[in-house]
Amino acid sequence: MDKQKLIKEAIKAMDNAYVPYSKFKVGAALLTKDGTIYHGANIENAAYGSAMCGERNAIYNAYNHGVKKDDIVALAIVGNTAKPISPCGSCRQVISELLPKEALIILTNMKGDILEVNKEDLLPFAFDDSDL
Ligand code: THU
Repeated sequence: MDKQKLIKEAIKAMDNAYVPYSKFKVGAALLTKDGTIYHGANIENAAYGSAMCGERNAIYNAYNHGVKKDDIVALAIVGNTAKPISPCGSCRQVISELLPKEALIILTNMKGDILEVNKEDLLPFAFDDSDL
């Protein structure tokens, strides 16, 4: 897998962010086994709670194109943060359910700092379907 290419795609995805309120762009790129890359960017709203994060938009974009959990190889997420970007709690919950446990999650920033994690690093002891 070409991690640098996936990071570049996540940076490209930032161009589609709609962030009139926070001015904080987040881009994400999701790679599937067949090599397809799905973009996501954060989209805000005057009703602030209606905003959607970049990484969740990338995941939902992939699913909306028929991607299934086990098709997913990696997800890169980028923002202009001091340290590699840290996904919010809601995104961690969604990542926990919709990505396979072996998926590589690349957290990065515009300076090129990189942290590679998996979904259990992001959300240990997750609430999931087995709890229902
Ligand atoms: N945001 C993301 O898109 N992903 C994250 O991991 C952190 C936060 C967005 C939500 C909102 O549009 C803006 O960043 C500021 O919180």
